[in-house]
Amino acid sequence: MQWGDEGKGKITDYLAEGADMVVRYQGGANAGHTIKVGDEVIALHLLPSGMVRPGVISVIGNGVVIDPETMKKEIEGLVRTGRSVENLRISDRANVVLPYHKVLDGAEERARGKKGVGTTGRGIGPCYSDKMSRSGILMGDLLDEEYLRDRIETILPMKKRLINSLGEEFDINPEELVKELLEYGRIYRDKIIDTSILINDYIKKGENILFEGAQGTMLDIDNGTYPYVTSSNCTSAAICSGAGVPPSAIEQVVGVAKAYTTRVGAGPFPTELHNEMGKILLHQGEEFGTTTGRERRCGWLDLVVLRHATRLNGPTSLAITKLDVLNDIDSIKVCVAYDIDGERVEHFPGSAPKMESAKPIYEELKGWKSWSEDTVELCQQGIEAMPREMRDYISYIEKDLGVKADIISVGKERDETIDLRPDRWSA
Ligand code: IMP
Repeated sequence: MQWGDEGKGKITDYLAEGADMVVRYQGGANAGHTIKVGDEVIALHLLPSGMVRPGVISVIGNGVVIDPETMKKEIEGLVRTGRSVENLRISDRANVVLPYHKVLDGAEERARGKKGVGTTGRGIGPCYSDKMSRSGILMGDLLDEEYLRDRIETILPMKKRLINSLGEEFDINPEELVKELLEYGRIYRDKIIDTSILINDYIKKGENILFEGAQGTMLDIDNGTYPYVTSSNCTSAAICSGAGVPPSAIEQVVGVAKAYTTRVGAGPFPTELHNEMGKILLHQGEEFGTTTGRERRCGWLDLVVLRHATRLNGPTSLAITKLDVLNDIDSIKVCVAYDIDGERVEHFPGSAPKMESAKPIYEELKGWKSWSEDTVELCQQGIEAMPREMRDYISYIEKDLGVKADIISVGKERDETIDLRPDRWSA
C-alpha cells in the first residue's frame, strides 16, 4: 500500500498457511521479502514466499522478470537450509534479465546523475523496457537453441550500440551468452511450463491461491511517483496480466500497510522526517533494505498515500504491520492532507513537481507509551487486551480508508500477529 517494505514477506508467509499455491506476478530480484521461521531468517528476492512452506506449489508468473543467476543462488541457499525446490514452477513467458540489462541499469543511472532513480541495480528497468519494445528473451526460449541463438544475434548488437552510446564499454560474445543461457535452460527445464494453465486449473478445482505482490503502489509504473518508480505494475490489477488469470477469479485483496511510512531510493516522500524521530523509526523498525542494505527513508503515516492505494487496489481488508515500532512514542502524527501551493489537497497528485512541493498537514494521536505492560504480550492475548490508544490508531486508519484491518502485526514472529479474519483458508 506504500513504497514497498511494509512487511509483505511476513504477511504472505502467514497467509500462505493453508494456501495450496503461492504466485509471484511482477517485479524481479529487486524485491526483498524477509521471512522469520523460528530462529531462521530467510531473505527471498525472486522466489515466492511459499517456498518455505512444505507442500505449497510456488509459481513465478509471466509478469516477473527472472535473473537466472540470482535464482540459482537463491535455490542453492534454500536447499542448504534443507528445503526442497521440487514444487517450483516457472512461466515459459517470463522475461529473462540478461547481463546487459544490469550493465544498462548502471549506465542509465550514471547518465541521469543527480536525478537518478536510485534503482536496485538489478537490471529491472532495462529488462521491462526490452519486454515492451519486443526485444526480450523469454524463459521458454532457453529451451530452444536455434531460436535463442537467432534472437541473441539480432538483439545483442543493438544493446552493445546502446551501451556504447552511454559512454560505457560492453563486450560479450554472443556464442558465450547463448551457451550460458542454454545451461540455465537445462537447469530449469523441468520447471518451465505454461503457468497460466496450471494456476487456472487450481482455480477451477477451488484450491487456495495466494498472489504475492512485490514493491508497492507508490512504485507502480502507472500510478506511482513517476519517474521515481519501478518498471512494473505493483497494484492488485497486475495479478491478472502477470499471472494469466481473469479479474473475476480474485476473491480477496489484502492491502499490507506499515504503521508509518518508509521509502528506499530517490523521489518524493511528503512525510519524510529528517530529525530525531526519523532516526527512531529507522532504528526501532530496523529499516535497512533487504536487497541493497540501504537505509530506508522514514516518516509518519500518510493517509493521502493510503487513500490513493485503496482506490487503486480495492483492498477487501488491511494488514497493518510494525505497530510495535511506535511503542515508545508519546504522540503519533498522521498526515491527513497536503498543502500544495497554499491549497489543501486530499488526493495524491500526478505531477512530480507537485509531489515534491506537497507539505503534510498532520493530526496528532495519543500513543500507547504510557502502558507499563509489554504491549506485544498484551496483543498476543487478543484485540481486547490491546492498548486502547493502539486500537484507536487502527480505527482511525480504518475509518479514513473505509476498510477493516483484520491482520495486525506487532513483531517479526508468526505468533506476534493478531488475526481477526472471519473466513480463513479452509484447508
Ligand atoms: P528498480 O526496481 O531496481 O528499477 O528501482 C526503482 C525504484 O524502486 C528504486 O527507488 C528502488 O529503491 C525501488 N524498489 C525496487 N524494488 C523495491 C522493493 O522491493 N522495495 C522497496 N523499494 C523498491
